[in-house]
Amino acid sequence: MVGKICGTGSYVPPRVLNNDDLSKIVDTNDEWIRERTGIGKRHVAEAETTSWMAGQAALRAVEQSGIDPAEIDMILVATSSSETVFPCAACEVQKMIGAAGAAGYDLNAACTGFVLAFNAAQAYISAGFCRTVMVIGADSMSNMIDWTDRSTCILFGDGAGAVILRAEEGTPVYMAAHSDGEKAPSLTGLSRHRRGWVEELEEGAEKKSFIHMDGQGVFKFAVRKVPEVIEEVLEEAGSSLEDIDYFILHQANRRIIEAVAKRLKTDVSKFPMNLEEYANTSAATVPILIDEMNRKGMLTEGQKIMLAGFGAGLTWAATLFEW
Ligand code: ACO
Repeated sequence: MVGKICGTGSYVPPRVLNNDDLSKIVDTNDEWIRERTGIGKRHVAEAETTSWMAGQAALRAVEQSGIDPAEIDMILVATSSSETVFPCAACEVQKMIGAAGAAGYDLNAACTGFVLAFNAAQAYISAGFCRTVMVIGADSMSNMIDWTDRSTCILFGDGAGAVILRAEEGTPVYMAAHSDGEKAPSLTGLSRHRRGWVEELEEGAEKKSFIHMDGQGVFKFAVRKVPEVIEEVLEEAGSSLEDIDYFILHQANRRIIEAVAKRLKTDVSKFPMNLEEYANTSAATVPILIDEMNRKGMLTEGQKIMLAGFGAGLTWAATLFEW
């Protein structure tokens, strides 16, 4: 058995900060941000918490799928920014959607988290342990950002995306995943679950750095490792790059995605992007993009989809599945 997607959903906060808004907080400008990253704006949580956004995305996925939430056996939430260390966000989602029979837990592998959660769900299903699994990526990066650090605050946004996998006979799913803890210092984050950051800034907040990032190091890592892990999955599947309909990559930076497409000698039109609108929502980028594509009718039965995630850890992973 494999897990086939039977419903998708996403949620982003209505509050939007565009690049011009950020230029009033830090010394930056729209042209610099667009040119270096492809980002135009980001949605930022106010009262919304990570687990609440996860629940909203899950509710939308349930509604689209038409399943009874009681059928869900397992809820996996990939996040590194839940408002509580415990209970886990998955239990809040379980309550919000009324999934009375579901187990659930959170996974943290930063921006790679959703792809790893998707792989875990597929493993549960192929082992016969679960029939229906809700897989969510949700993050509130705005709680971790130092809004006085222009090198990182421009990159991130908040949101959540969800897919429901249901056991069916089908083409096997292929996956590969890696980590390298030696490279941990190139990207680290400390949480700060505080609200009212705009007011703090206006009052002259103390400058603290919550995200430490070697931007160029992360850029080089992604451009090298993402093509490698995609090739690894293709080899295992006995497939080629030409067989893939869409490469749905973690949305960190337009230039990273373009460089990966170039390295794979594949037209960039097969690499959909939405980071202009949402920026980098960490574990949520991949499922938000899947939901958008699904709702636009871009995804049809039998298409081959390659997911790839990369981020802090360092971690990176890819998965090939059929829609
Ligand atoms: N606005 C204006 N100028 C800026 C800004 C800003 N927001 N940030 C940095 N600068 C300045 C720097 O101070 C520097 O000035 P200097 O030349 O006078 O010293 C200049 O711009 C160039 O800075 P670099 O850091 O060299 O710029 P770079 O071209 O490397 O772009 C960036 C930075 C966008 C972060 C890039 O390295 C990148 O995208 N790296 C990938 C990291 C990433 O995507 N991280 C996301 C989280 S990780 C993940 O999701 C996997």
